[in-house]
Amino acid sequence: MLAVDQLSVFHGPIEAVHGISFNVAAGQCVSLLGPNGAGKTSTISAITGVVRATGRIEVDGEIMSDQPVESRILKGVSVAPEGRRVFANLSVEDNLKLGGAIVQNKANIRSDIAHWLQTFPVLGERRAQLAGTLSGGEQQMLAIARALMSRPKILLLDEPSLGLAPKIVAQIFDIIRHLKNEGMTILLVEQNATQALKLSDYSYLLNNGKIVAEGSAEKLGQSNELMAELTGIA
Ligand SMILES: Nc1ncnc2c1ncn2[C@@H]1O[C@H](COP(=O)(O)OP(=O)(O)OP(=O)(O)O)[C@@H](O)[C@H]1O
Ligand SMILES: [Mg+2]
Repeated sequence: MLAVDQLSVFHGPIEAVHGISFNVAAGQCVSLLGPNGAGKTSTISAITGVVRATGRIEVDGEIMSDQPVESRILKGVSVAPEGRRVFANLSVEDNLKLGGAIVQNKANIRSDIAHWLQTFPVLGERRAQLAGTLSGGEQQMLAIARALMSRPKILLLDEPSLGLAPKIVAQIFDIIRHLKNEGMTILLVEQNATQALKLSDYSYLLNNGKIVAEGSAEKLGQSNELMAELTGIA
């Protein structure tokens, strides 16, 4: 579903990601793990098209790398960004509406909102509440639900567990597992390697802008030095 080939990402003169290649097959959850500054968010930003990058990005066989942000959304790329970035002064429901606005007609938006408020009952109970007044975990759920409102082919999740209490982290990972079981294709960026590996079909370890290891959870879990370092963080 997602094929990334020789991707390099630039912030002004700085090259943050150096020619990485990876794939996410349809219906899989693949994780991109790595410590602070590894280049995870830079990679996500290159896929959504908000940062300068070279290399090739394909979604469902279509080249995205030469397309503007909006057409990537229309063609199935959606992100729950690092730090949630919900619209604090809008209600839960209006955040969801905006998530579908570019892609969906009004009838679909209405039925999708109903669907996601049912799937995330915590949000259902707070549909009229301003997003800025939600807890961190609730804001994360909203960011994920908002991303789903465009009915993506691939859902990009940038550190959904960041800054949340362990109990809430477990809830967020349950939600990701649920979405995967429903058939969603997911690229999961995480520092919480232990949790992310548990639900991933395949994982890549990114360090200093390069993929330094990859494989199944079993393979990466085996006495890899970097793995030990990462699980120490997690
Ligand atoms: N807007 C920017 N301008 C300049 N350098 C940047 C910018 N954004 C990121 N970088 C640099 O690119 C490198 C990769 O950063 P990136 O945010 O992609 O890492 P990350 O893996 O997402 O880290 P974290 O886990 O802390 O979110 C870092 O060295 C960072 O300082
Ligand atoms: Mg990041």
